[in-house]
Amino acid sequence: SPTKVTKICCIGAGYVGGPTCAVIALKCPHIKVTIVDLNKARIDAWNSPDFKLPIYEPGLEDVVRKARGRNLFFSTDVDKAIQEAELIFVSVNTPTKKSGVGAGFAADLNYVELATRNIANVATSSKIVVEKSTVPCRTAESMRTILEANSKPNCRFDILSNPEFLAEGTAIQDLFKPDRVLIGSLQTPEGISACEALAEVYANWVPKERVLTVGLWSSELSKLAANAMLAQRISSVNALSAICEATGANIDEVAHAIGYDTRIGPKFLKASVGFGGSCFQKDILNLVYLSESCHLPEVAAYWRQVVEMNEYQKRRFSKRVVDTLFNTITGKRIAVLGFAFKADTGDTRESAAITLIKDFLSERAFVKVFDPQVQHDQIWMDLQEASPLVPLDHIKKHVSISGSALEACKNADAIVIATEWKEFKELDWEEIYKTMNKPAFLFDGRLLVDAAKLTKIGFKVTTIGRPS
Ligand code: NAD
Ligand code: UGA
Repeated sequence: SPTKVTKICCIGAGYVGGPTCAVIALKCPHIKVTIVDLNKARIDAWNSPDFKLPIYEPGLEDVVRKARGRNLFFSTDVDKAIQEAELIFVSVNTPTKKSGVGAGFAADLNYVELATRNIANVATSSKIVVEKSTVPCRTAESMRTILEANSKPNCRFDILSNPEFLAEGTAIQDLFKPDRVLIGSLQTPEGISACEALAEVYANWVPKERVLTVGLWSSELSKLAANAMLAQRISSVNALSAICEATGANIDEVAHAIGYDTRIGPKFLKASVGFGGSCFQKDILNLVYLSESCHLPEVAAYWRQVVEMNEYQKRRFSKRVVDTLFNTITGKRIAVLGFAFKADTGDTRESAAITLIKDFLSERAFVKVFDPQVQHDQIWMDLQEASPLVPLDHIKKHVSISGSALEACKNADAIVIATEWKEFKELDWEEIYKTMNKPAFLFDGRLLVDAAKLTKIGFKVTTIGRPS
């Protein structure tokens, strides 16, 4: 019969490990859940008495308030949590490799390997080890080899793949009501039994028919495939937005019309200044690398184009700003509203705003940024990383961070909406218009504001996917 899980350890207290295992703790009061990380500052923040958690996610604080100290614990004592648990999630980061073989494409599996070796070294009893991180196909096999080569007598390791499909900004909602939970295992009696043990955990709140069980490699590949297909929809709609701008069609109307086809569906068809986030680009590049490793260059080129279209969309947007402002933005003031890669998150990884600001700086414009959630330090770090050869002092002469949207827009020549924060929709646009240089330009990179209303106020509005 399957192992009865009473204690869970999660290695990695980031955007995935934190919310995922906090929800497991909330929904399974009979299971002790310990989330561990090497990063002490991060663990301290998860433990902070006034719930100043390390990540911003609607509804997360409430979950942590209910479970922390009851059956949910955050700790830097990785070894102890591994020893206690029957089931261990590996939820560490898997960024794109920056150097060496596969640089720029392949996933850096160093963190996964270190976590796996840590488990092998300290475990004194059998464990179910669950890949939660997004990894290339067949990573579970490497994990198994490492675990088996280092295990003590009487320690068995069963490896499962259980990729996470939550989106930032809606993580808690997604975890409460997942479209599906995917579990991959070896199709051996032991593999199937481990799979049942994990399925039991989810059965505490996820309807049985939503828990899909498949082979290990299918599970690993399904995660890359899902992200690639989602990103492909955005690149497709963004490619169409360029045609709309050139022809007079309106991308909102086109997306609405095609989305009515039940085979296409209405979701994820919003044209934008380009997708961001820590995963889409990374996972597609990972798939490109996998295709190349399998000697499938046509398949690799097909997926690579999704990322290239996204880069093109960002470049195209910056160029439209320059073109519209009479072909020069040197010395002009640009207010950038939003810095996060999407609304309802403080995460800035691969945010389109970073590329836009970099472009504006290379034209020697002055930029004022406002984002309701992103930490100021993070903005400086991202801008520095985007322009490593420019000293930060110099960047700071051209960029400042504002405390409100109103302040950012004061005396500006142009406003650029880079993130679809709802509050930007409800700004006092009449007031903002009064404080701006004229003509007052507004570039909506998110199809967020009512262009007709703003035009009536006096703004010169440029919207993605609509002719100028
Ligand atoms: P993250 O960087 O926020 O968190 C990873 C954490 O793991 C870090 O805090 C790091 O200190 C810790 N860590 C690394 N090695 C460790 C070790 N050996 N021992 C203990 N702690 C260690 O990353 P994330 O956004 O949570 O992503 C984690 C994985 O989940 C990635 O593979 C990602 O692709 C995948 N994923 C992310 C999302 C998302 O929305 N962010 C969604 C689905 C899947
Ligand atoms: C995405 C997937 O949606 C999750 O299912 C997956 O688990 C996750 O990646 C992951 O593996 O990390 P996330 O990146 O958090 O989630 O956010 P999304 O809502 O997918 O948005 C990604 C980017 O696409 C954002 O910049 C967003 O603004 C943009 N986007 C999204 C569009 O431009 N148009 C759309 O119609 C939808």
